[in-house]
Amino acid sequence: MTGQKRLFIKTYGCQMNVYDSERMAETLGAQGYTLTETADDADMVLLNTCHIREKAAEKVYSDLGRLKPLKARKPDLKIGVAGCVAQAEGAEIQRRMPLVDLVVGPQAYHRLPDMLARVDAGEKALDTDFPPEDKFDHLPKLRTRSAPSAFLTVQEGCDKFCAFCVVPYTRGAEVSRPVERLLSEARDLATRGVRDITLLGQNVNAYHGEGQGGTWGLGRLIREMAEIEGIARIRYTTSHPNDMDDDLIAAHGDCPALMPYLHLPVQSGSDRILKAMNRKHTADAYLRLIERIRAARPDIVLTSDFIVGFPGETDADFEATMDLVRQVGYGMAYSFKYSARPGTPAAEKTPVAPDIADARLQRLQALLTEQQRACQDAMVGREVGVLYEKPGRLPGQMSGKSDHLHAVHVEDPTGTPGELVRVRITAAAPNSLAGMRIVD
Ligand code: SAH
Ligand code: SF4
Ligand code: F3S
Repeated sequence: MTGQKRLFIKTYGCQMNVYDSERMAETLGAQGYTLTETADDADMVLLNTCHIREKAAEKVYSDLGRLKPLKARKPDLKIGVAGCVAQAEGAEIQRRMPLVDLVVGPQAYHRLPDMLARVDAGEKALDTDFPPEDKFDHLPKLRTRSAPSAFLTVQEGCDKFCAFCVVPYTRGAEVSRPVERLLSEARDLATRGVRDITLLGQNVNAYHGEGQGGTWGLGRLIREMAEIEGIARIRYTTSHPNDMDDDLIAAHGDCPALMPYLHLPVQSGSDRILKAMNRKHTADAYLRLIERIRAARPDIVLTSDFIVGFPGETDADFEATMDLVRQVGYGMAYSFKYSARPGTPAAEKTPVAPDIADARLQRLQALLTEQQRACQDAMVGREVGVLYEKPGRLPGQMSGKSDHLHAVHVEDPTGTPGELVRVRITAAAPNSLAGMRIVD
C-alpha cells in the first residue's frame, strides 16, 4: 500500500488501551497511515473500546451513530472497532452498525494489515481470536513518540474472575511477556528520550515472565529495568492485593527508581462483599498489606478503585468501606457505581436500588476528594522530583509530574521537556501543585 492516508483513533478505557492504540498507529503507519486529530479529515476511523461498564460500552454505539453522516459523505472511509467491546460483542457490532468495516479484538491487532486488505477488496473483516503467537512480536518495533514518559505492557489478561468484571473474558488468560523483550523495548524507549516508564498489565503484579535463570517476578524485572541508562522512574499498574509478593514490597524500599506511588484497588471494605466479589482477601489482610508497603516506603502515595452498590451491599457494608478509606488515607481513588455486565456471575443477582447506590457514591466521593486534597496539601514545603513534560499554561512555566504523580507547575523559563529536576512545593490547588526549582 502506498500514499499518505489519515488515521483517527479514539481511545476509551484503561492505559492498556492507550498503549494498544499507539501500537496500532505504528502498525498502520507501516501501511501508509499518519495520525490525524479529527474524524472529519480521516480515511480511517478506529475506535479502541472499553467494555468495563455499561456506559462505556454504549458510548461506542452512539459514537458510531455520529459517524453515519461522515460515511455517507465519504463512502471510502473505513471504520474499525477494536478493543474490549470488539472482543465481547464481535459480529453483533456489524449487525447493529453495518457501517463498521472491521472488528478486531485486543489480541489480534497485529493482523490489522491483512484485515485492511480484505476491507479494500470490499469485504467486512472480523478477528476476535486469541492467537497463540504474541501479537507484540508481530508489530513494527520502531516507535514514533518522543514524550519523556511511556507505557509498556508487560502482562495481559486476568485469571482472577472477580464476580463483576469482564476483563478475564475480553482480554483472556494471564500471559507475561518474556523479560528480554521487555528490557529491549525499555532500552529502545530510553534511546528515544523516555525517562519514565509505567509497566502495564490487567494484573501486572502477577507478572511471571521467562528470564535468565528461570521465571522472574515483577520486583526483579523492575530492578533490572532500573539499571538501564536514562530510565529514572518506574511505576506499575494495575495490581491485585494478593499478588504483592515480598520481593516487590522490598523493591519499594530499596529500588530508588521505583516511584513512591501505588495503585492498589480494594473495591470494598466489607468482608461479606469482598467474598461475594470473589476478591479472595479480607479488609484486614489488605490493611496489613498496606502497613508492610508503608514500612518499606513511608512516603508512598496510595490510590485505589471502589465499587459501590454491588448486589447485596447493605448500609453496614458500605460503612465498612468508608471505614477502610479513613484508615488508609488515599492520595486519590476512582469510585464507580456497580454496573451489571452480561456474562459475569454478579449480573445474575438483584441490584441495589439506584438512588441508594447514588447516595453512597456521593458520600464516598466526598471523602475521597477530601483525602486527595489533604494529600496535596501535605506536599507543600516538601522537596520532590519533577519530570517536565511540556510548557505550562503561563509563559515561563513548565509542567510535569512529581514522584508521587501529582501534576506540578514550576516557574522555569529555561526548563525543557524531559528534564528531571528537584522542586520545592510551594502551594496546592485542587488538581495540581505549584513549586520552585531547586538549583544547587
Ligand atoms: N485489573 C484491575 C481492574 C481493571 S477495571 C484490578 O483488578 O484492579 C478498573 C476498575 O473498574 C476496577 O478496579 C473496578 O473498580 C471497576 N469495575 C470493574 N468492573 C466493574 C463493574 N461491573 N461495575 C463498576 N465498576 C467496575
Ligand atoms: Fe477484573 Fe478482578 Fe481481574 Fe481486576 S483482578 S481485571 S477486577 S477480574
Ligand atoms: Fe476497559 Fe478493556 Fe481496559 S474493558 S478497562 S479497555 S481492559
